[in-house]
Amino acid sequence: MTTPSSAEVTELRDLCIEIAREAGSYAHGERRSLGSGRRMVHDTKSSDVDPVTEFDKATEVLVVERIRAARPDDSIVGEEGADHQGTSGFEWHVDPIDGTVNYVYDLPGWCTSIGVVHDGGPVAGAVYAPTVDEVYGAGLGLGATINGAPLAVSDVTDMSTSLAATGFSYHRDEHRVAQAERVARVLPNVRDIRRQGSAALDLAYVASGRVDSYFEEFINSWDVVAGVLLVTEAGGVVTAFDGAPLDVTEPHGLVAAGASLHPQILRSISHI
Ligand code: IPD
Ligand code: CA
Ligand code: CA
Repeated sequence: MTTPSSAEVTELRDLCIEIAREAGSYAHGERRSLGSGRRMVHDTKSSDVDPVTEFDKATEVLVVERIRAARPDDSIVGEEGADHQGTSGFEWHVDPIDGTVNYVYDLPGWCTSIGVVHDGGPVAGAVYAPTVDEVYGAGLGLGATINGAPLAVSDVTDMSTSLAATGFSYHRDEHRVAQAERVARVLPNVRDIRRQGSAALDLAYVASGRVDSYFEEFINSWDVVAGVLLVTEAGGVVTAFDGAPLDVTEPHGLVAAGASLHPQILRSISHI
């Protein structure tokens, strides 16, 4: 397959940013109209603690409409069920609201995440956090930005003074016990741990140096396609839990950090 030109990557990145901004602003407006601190009505999805609101679905519909209008030949995969098979070789991975628990509880840590894969790897992406009006964007070979300003991962080299982000699955019995054991292993070796509640924002925070590393397993392509590109374009390293190259279309588990920190985090989490 041919590599997309830098003009095409630029166009895709700008479209990701534009659609993520519009979609996130729509979801934010709906959240605000409910009033501060009020819980949002929701259904459940993969388990009894996995919430989905009418706005997760409506926001995905908006994103898909915009992608189809601009790029009718591209494929689309969305968390809320979008599944369109195109012919161009470009595949969009959409999480309309990443951090739905925060969205339901009126906590600020949620975003719209949109990434594009070509030939198995991410080539463009954007993460928009409406509550703080920050948009992260990246294009393959073009670097990563926040509200247009360049991003770089942190230069922390010593794990013991590093801040690590992680997350937990909605499957309490099968997954969380193993995740808790992993966190228990890492915790004595780092400054602290953050569980923000949005995988896409966790990766954006690694890209911007707001946290030093992020690891999580049992995640999906829509959680990470945009964020993984943000990290690598900001100079960081992302791999699977065994250190192998990450398949962003089936991520399972990933570790993201600056180049000298990454092997230390990997060693620490892999001993389970
Ligand atoms: C979830 C968030 C959370 C992560 C979960 C994801 P959702 O996505 O990214 O931080 O720990 O694994 O499923 O359900 O809010 O889109
Ligand atoms: Ca998600
Ligand atoms: Ca979601």
